[in-house]
Amino acid sequence: MSETTAAQSGQPAARRGAAYDSAFLRAARREPVPHTPVWFMRQAGRSLPEYLKVREGIPMLDSCMRPELVKEITLQPVRRHKVDAAIFFSDIVVPLKAVGIDVDIKPGVGPVIADPIRSFADLERLRPLEPADMPYITEAVGLLVDELGSTPLIGFAGAPFTLASYLVEGGPSKSHEKTKAMMYGAPELWAALVDRLADITSMFLKIQIEAGASAVQLFDSWVGALAPEDYRRSVMPASTKVFDAVAGYGVPRIHFGVGTGELLGLLGQAGADVVGVDWRVPLDVAAERVGPGKALQGNLDPAVLFAPTSVVEAKAREVLDAAAAVSDTGHIFNLGHGVMPSMDPDALSRLVAFVQETSAR
Ligand code: CP3
Repeated sequence: MSETTAAQSGQPAARRGAAYDSAFLRAARREPVPHTPVWFMRQAGRSLPEYLKVREGIPMLDSCMRPELVKEITLQPVRRHKVDAAIFFSDIVVPLKAVGIDVDIKPGVGPVIADPIRSFADLERLRPLEPADMPYITEAVGLLVDELGSTPLIGFAGAPFTLASYLVEGGPSKSHEKTKAMMYGAPELWAALVDRLADITSMFLKIQIEAGASAVQLFDSWVGALAPEDYRRSVMPASTKVFDAVAGYGVPRIHFGVGTGELLGLLGQAGADVVGVDWRVPLDVAAERVGPGKALQGNLDPAVLFAPTSVVEAKAREVLDAAAAVSDTGHIFNLGHGVMPSMDPDALSRLVAFVQETSAR
């Protein structure tokens, strides 16, 4: 594949952008760091007044197609919180829209699909994604990388199971009942669906890496709904296909899901370099379950941010200590899931400073 040749042909310098020696990328590679790097999932968004201001009157998915706006929103939390990495402002359903799926993001609800995918005939609507389908992504990443300098930009995509759940249910679901009915009852259709999604997701990540993203995160947000054996048999091959597709670039690959305590061993085998952990499993225990050779990301309970500063700092210190107890594991500090819209942005800024100062070596 032409895209992977530069990274595979002994030209790592081409991929060693200005962010190569940042604390974030060093931790992801499990190299020594000046301090534990910290960023937050959903750090750009409704907790920030400056976000609400620039988004006023612009539907969510429209905003993802305006490169200057994407650049501004991505930079807002970097300026305000001084986090160690930026995450690209977009959404997991953007590539689905780009291949022609009728999807909208309803405020307070989430992604809603007009015609859910339920049959082999429906699968034809999930055609392969091409770079030409999303010139606005390439442009926005390029603008950002120029502006960010030595701060790394994290690209991302939704994992096959999480995307499949929205596509099959038609919208957000707690029980994933139609999704699981397909997985158990129509295994060939299910396998074909997650395989198509793996290809779309791989291309979405490639487009971001080619444009300059220096790490990628696969959001397998709802995979914790599965028993380990079902994950291993019916979902893991598609996620592994995604990690393999971008392996040649040499950029760190992060794998995140919620409620994955029982899946951590399998997530460690799925192919990522960094495993994201929610707040339910302490990082030293998570390291045992994930196995050797992986960095960890996490895992402060987001709800702790609603407690007084002294409590936030004590709980953040517990996270740092648990990570330090497994000294050969790289650690990227994060919340166990995303920033909530009602969080106090100042509490997040204080947490960033606390983590960076307390962990300084
Ligand atoms: O700051 C960042 O993390 C980068 C941007 C980002 C968004 N969505 C922007 C967004 C990222 C990484 C995502 C990923 C995403 N989108 C996930 C996986 C992450 C996770 O939370 O586990 C999922 C499941 C989605 C689907 C989705 N999109 C949901 C559930 C929602 C919330 C709907 C609501 O209103 O409560 C969205 C919309 C969305 N994506 C918003 C943002 C900032 C809010 C929409 C708005 O501001 O109008």
